[in-house]
Amino acid sequence: MRLILLGPPGAGKGTQAQRLIETHKIPQLSTGDMLRAAVTAQSEVGLKAKAVMDSGNLVSDDIVNAIVSERIDQADCAEGFILDGYPRTLNQADAVEAMLERKGLKLDHVIEIKVDDDILVNRVSGRFSCASCGAVYHDEDKRPKVEGVCDVCGSTDFKRRPDDNAETMRTRLRSYYKDTSPLVGYYHCKGTLRAVDGMQPIDVVTESIERIVSGKA
Ligand code: AP5
Ligand code: ZN
Repeated sequence: MRLILLGPPGAGKGTQAQRLIETHKIPQLSTGDMLRAAVTAQSEVGLKAKAVMDSGNLVSDDIVNAIVSERIDQADCAEGFILDGYPRTLNQADAVEAMLERKGLKLDHVIEIKVDDDILVNRVSGRFSCASCGAVYHDEDKRPKVEGVCDVCGSTDFKRRPDDNAETMRTRLRSYYKDTSPLVGYYHCKGTLRAVDGMQPIDVVTESIERIVSGKA
């Protein structure tokens, strides 16, 4: 299964992708995670991307398309993958189509996770994650079961993203509406777009997505 999760910052793309990888045994390809790894590694890409990401703007299409193109050629993507945070511009949407066409493959589903802006701001400002395994939590809605201990790996080390602040969030939302929201029309015209209500509890959103990917909705 080849699936795109589309939605504004904080919509729950990463949260839902984590669940889908367990159920469907296919990898999550998050361009945000890949870029953050490049920043940490201080690679050439990371050095170029850091300031852009900290400001909430989009990294250039060339850089991001190259990262994804290399990643989907890896063996673990043979049975499918979940694209989380990519494509984010019409240029990137064309690029992913060309990457798949070269392999004789097609996208199966594009799922738009819809959430109102005021809720998004609360979601990103309350978000934190495990520094060891990356599991995502929230100050109010999703705390670890044992306070201060990661549910997944038991680590006690947590971190927050530098771009999860109110000012950067405004830029991220602007760039979503300007550059990424046109993809809703793009995939609607191709007949692959389905929308889910991302304001429901996490489990309910997962159920809605599973119904779509299993052809029951
Ligand atoms: P990226 O890392 O992709 O960030 P984003 O798109 O802004 O999305 P987020 O990771 O913030 O949100 P999410 O939808 O995954 O939400 P999550 O599940 O964590 O990109 C970061 C930056 O990298 C960009 O600004 C850009 O600079 C660059 N970049 C990345 N990709 C690029 C590309 N393709 N092109 C160019 N530049 C690119 O959930 C958020 C919080 O809400 C969590 O705390 C979670 O627990 C909680 N939550 C989730 N679902 C629910 C629910 N249903 N109910 C209650 N709480 C919930
Ligand atoms: Zn962990």
